[in-house]
Amino acid sequence: MKVTKSEFVISAVGPDQYPVDGWPEIALAGRSNVGKSSLINKMINRKNLARTSSTPGKTQQLNYYGINDELYLVDFPGYGFAKVSKTQRQAWGKMIERYLLERETLKLLLLVVDLRHPPSKDDMIMYDWVSHYDLPICVVATKADKLPRSRWAKQIKQMKQSLGLRIDHPMVLFSSDTGLGKDELWGIIKANIRA
Ligand code: GTP
Ligand code: MG
Repeated sequence: MKVTKSEFVISAVGPDQYPVDGWPEIALAGRSNVGKSSLINKMINRKNLARTSSTPGKTQQLNYYGINDELYLVDFPGYGFAKVSKTQRQAWGKMIERYLLERETLKLLLLVVDLRHPPSKDDMIMYDWVSHYDLPICVVATKADKLPRSRWAKQIKQMKQSLGLRIDHPMVLFSSDTGLGKDELWGIIKANIRA
């Protein structure tokens, strides 16, 4: 996909603020600091449109990025960040749950995990929940550049096993550093938008 236009649209704290133009939406969930915002930047060839930081917990709303005036990438707040209060965690959880179950323009959820580590408990809960509701999901195993290529296949296999990944759910090997997996992921996104 050739990205000719990308813009930050809104940090939405609730449904009242979600865009109303009906463009298809691709949402990104994953633990804090796993690399969601970096993945967005790589996908759209922008250095820092989606704000990244080495301080986890930075993204606290649903951040909408408009692409080519035809679709949105929606960056979720990262989960599993210990320093966030329980009340706030529950509020985020509710917001995400409602979004995933009620947002009619949602076409695909990208569950972003770290290739180097087994999925966290929260990753597994998220995957099971999304599978239970049969929402369209693609697991993206990122930070591949931080592992030698010789270990990729084994890590992917273990990740699939630990999650109990369904055969109808794709998994993409990704790196926001090198751009590995970018074209494959755009292909999956486009197929889900058309579906
Ligand atoms: P929250 O917004 O806190 O939920 O985090 P996030 O998931 O958006 O993570 P973010 O994109 O901010 O990345 C966190 C850190 O990991 C940053 O220092 C990034 O530079 C680094 N990072 C993300 N993806 C990659 C990758 O593919 N390779 C390498 N080497 N570093 C990465
Ligand atoms: Mg982020």
